[in-house]
Amino acid sequence: ALLAPKAGPLTGRRIIVTSGPTHEPIDPVRYIANRSSGKQGHALAGALARLGADVHLVSGPVTIPDPQGVKTLHVETAREMQAAVESLLPADAAIFVAAVADWRTESEAGQKIKKIAGEGPPALQMVENPDILAGVGHHKKRPYLVVGFAAETREVEQNATFKLKKKGADFIVANDVSHEGGVMGGDRNRVAIVSKDGIDRWPDLTKEETAERLANLIAERLRTVTV
Ligand code: CTP
Ligand code: CA
Repeated sequence: ALLAPKAGPLTGRRIIVTSGPTHEPIDPVRYIANRSSGKQGHALAGALARLGADVHLVSGPVTIPDPQGVKTLHVETAREMQAAVESLLPADAAIFVAAVADWRTESEAGQKIKKIAGEGPPALQMVENPDILAGVGHHKKRPYLVVGFAAETREVEQNATFKLKKKGADFIVANDVSHEGGVMGGDRNRVAIVSKDGIDRWPDLTKEETAERLANLIAERLRTVTV
């Protein structure tokens, strides 16, 4: 009874957030994955919930706890993440923080692949995973607000601007993961918000602070919208 949601600027808004990596199995003991702790996505889900939103978090495999006040679905692969996100539509906003593996092996070996003397490493046949953000950005049930993230090591803002258009997003949160200190797994980052209106460069912040600023920006964008 003490957990009744507080009213806030996002009360009544349904928001989907993806977070964490995806794991693409190679065989029963091995997988392909991106580096991601889930800290930024989980922090954003929590911050949106504190503003009153009905938050549905779709999380890949992470070691951090589910955020409070959020409904969390746990998935492993990109295809499972896509199915979970689509099952949660329609929504007012969808925010794609997950580091989705771009490729998976064409099929998962049913048995552990063994090293065989003289044969060398297995040639893994890779296929591309679905782009979950682009699918939602061009969906017939497209949420009013669609936000992507872009982790880049070079030409951060140009790459983010390109992704904005390609994926049908309203803005891209661009993150330079090569910057000193280490974004991956760390507690701080520095992002730039790339939209059709230009580029807004934010200072170096903790991931919690970045999450709160993003949640406020999302609330501002949804404020005047009746969906
Ligand atoms: N994304 C997604 N599904 C994928 C790949 C990416 O939803 N299969 C989303 C991410 O969650 C992120 C955005 O798209 O919000 C950008 O991801 P990123 O990996 O930077 O973009 P890619 O298009 O995969 O380009 P590349 O990895 O070549 O830079
Ligand atoms: Ca990628």
